[in-house]
Amino acid sequence: MRKKLIAGNWKMNNTPSQGAALIADIKETADKASCDVVVCTPYICLPAAVKAAEGSKIAVSAENMHFEDKGAFTGEISAEMLKEVGVTYTVIGHSERRQYFAETDETVNLKTVKALANDIIPIVCVGESLSQRENGVTFDFIAMQVKLALKNISAQDAEKVVIAYEPIWAIGTGKTATDEQANEVCAFIRKTVKELYGENTANTMRILYGGSMNAKNAAGLLAQSDIDGGLIGGASLKAPDFCTIINAATNA
Ligand code: PGA
Repeated sequence: MRKKLIAGNWKMNNTPSQGAALIADIKETADKASCDVVVCTPYICLPAAVKAAEGSKIAVSAENMHFEDKGAFTGEISAEMLKEVGVTYTVIGHSERRQYFAETDETVNLKTVKALANDIIPIVCVGESLSQRENGVTFDFIAMQVKLALKNISAQDAEKVVIAYEPIWAIGTGKTATDEQANEVCAFIRKTVKELYGENTANTMRILYGGSMNAKNAAGLLAQSDIDGGLIGGASLKAPDFCTIINAATNA
């Protein structure tokens, strides 16, 4: 039985103090929940977020990470830096990073490998565009993203990876995939992982849905057979909405 995971992706929202206040508001719900709860925050918020989450079940995640250990990479953050402040997860390959910051399947793979080597759980994002969906290449495209992201990763390590299926056309648009559409692709991702690593890894790996998940539609999505949680943007910024989603995962 896979434990559900609810991750809030703040994106470029919240100052350190605003983030700490938000965490204070979700702590009680998170501690009572049967799912894992993660907040993915801007780099600058991470130390305050870790402090605010101390003694609670909430884990803190970065939204990105560099794949090199150190060096002349102005503006970048390493796995070691994240670890030292108490970060235990990182998002990798979010579609916004792929679209605006030249993230490629190759860098997604390098970052995933580096995160695992540093005991940071990678939340690897994949997802098709609207035109890919309309042209019938969703499954080919997702299979390619998943296979390239997991290159050179052992079965043992792959079990720790979290994959977030986020159709680009559903992110921040208010257009959620239907429960069936989301589950169909999450099940397909599990099938792809099974082809790569076998049944055990496929059954252990957590696969999330992301894209306009909110307090209203979360229960339906989280009840699906292959959706093990959510990566939530907009709705994770409002404590009552995020708490409703956490409770939906507990009750799913
Ligand atoms: P959204 O974002 O929930 O605001 O659509 C999800 C994401 O991009 O992770």
